[in-house]
Amino acid sequence: MLATGAIVLLGAGATTVALHADTPAAAPSAGGHDGHHDPGPAARSVTGLTGDRTAEPDVRFTLTARTATVVLASGATVDALTFDGTAPGPELRVRTGQLVEVVLRNADVTEGVTLHWHGIAVPNAEDGVAGVTQDAVAPGGEHVYRFRPDETGTFWYHAHQDSARTVARGLFGALVVEPAGGGGPDAVLVGHTWPDGPTVVGTADVPVRREPARRIGLVNTDSTTQTWAVVGAPFTVTAIDGVDLAGPTPLEGVLLRIPAGGRMDVEPAGPATVALLGGPAVGFGTDPAAPPADGPVFDPLTYGTAAPPPGGPFDRELVQVLDTERTTRRGVPSVVWTINGELHPPPAVVAEGEWVRITIRNDGTDAHPMHLHGHHVRVLSRDGVPATGAWWTDSLGVEAGQTYEVAFRADNPGVWMDHCHNLTHAAAGMVLHLAYEGVSTPYTPGGGAGNTPE
Ligand code: C2O
Ligand code: CU
Repeated sequence: MLATGAIVLLGAGATTVALHADTPAAAPSAGGHDGHHDPGPAARSVTGLTGDRTAEPDVRFTLTARTATVVLASGATVDALTFDGTAPGPELRVRTGQLVEVVLRNADVTEGVTLHWHGIAVPNAEDGVAGVTQDAVAPGGEHVYRFRPDETGTFWYHAHQDSARTVARGLFGALVVEPAGGGGPDAVLVGHTWPDGPTVVGTADVPVRREPARRIGLVNTDSTTQTWAVVGAPFTVTAIDGVDLAGPTPLEGVLLRIPAGGRMDVEPAGPATVALLGGPAVGFGTDPAAPPADGPVFDPLTYGTAAPPPGGPFDRELVQVLDTERTTRRGVPSVVWTINGELHPPPAVVAEGEWVRITIRNDGTDAHPMHLHGHHVRVLSRDGVPATGAWWTDSLGVEAGQTYEVAFRADNPGVWMDHCHNLTHAAAGMVLHLAYEGVSTPYTPGGGAGNTPE
């Protein structure tokens, strides 16, 4: 199935690169990033919206992107793109409030590389999107990221240059932001399906029996929804997309559907098996048991302590209608995925401080895991049913026929990607930008740096 997706990508990519290059990534405000032509007091460039560039970092990492052969648990080998020779790359652990510095080096990845901190509301210039917040780093080059996370939870990092191909081939890893006093998940399982190979959990040498764990983070680095199971003990879902849930109640026998890019933290009450359906199972304090083939599905909409969603008035209403359109490209039947009827629709504009509601309606036939960079969004309702749980997300699986209402505070100025995390869909054009009024970017897709974010 994934291989088919890759074929669609190759077919659609050549055309959409040109489409994208025609679409300015910048905010529509006419101010140049040089500031000479826009006298508006709020005129700002993405390049100025950095993390702390002067203080001594509390923690430093270097990640080197390079090609390598990765041996999977099955014994199969894949020609991978890696950070530091492994895929997933090293698990990064930091603490909330720390100033984090990551030096990205590109040894030999000819596609170019960036680092995006999926789910963390970093300052815009640190967001790692080629052609929007920086130029792709060519072989031999490097880029330094600095940010101070003020959230805690399970996140991940990945390349945001040619990401449909480079993430699938290995340019990703887990990123945990621990509370200031330490803690966080005892283990993080990263589920990934190789383009030409099996699904794995974690690095190739992941043991199937591990020490007991109190809290386990699950990360979906694929482009489609993953289904996970926890068997052997009741468990709670304690966080979604890095945000703790209020008053989580024990669950048993339900499956967890994690959209592309999404994460869940689970806490089993005792020794338990955590399994990715169709992939391996890992026993925590026990030999792994077989997961059920199907069952009822966990629904975050009504989980945990009732906390009525914050209401309006909203300062801004945005609408995103997602659709599947069948077209013909060079005589070959093809499918594209659109937002408001367009590939690479124009930016959605907000002003700093606004309380924004987005209505996302999926009129098409495919699921779209929608990911807004730089913000956490609160789910207000699904198909008209109000959310009673305190469900925040950054990777929202919008299934065919569903309508979600979500809200966020526009508190992180910049030009932000907002796209489908089925990266094949994104590469085909299912991407827009959330642009703050008065902020523009000097970076563009294409150009000398060969920026192709998706
Ligand atoms: Cu995880 Cu724009 O990406
Ligand atoms: Cu999609």
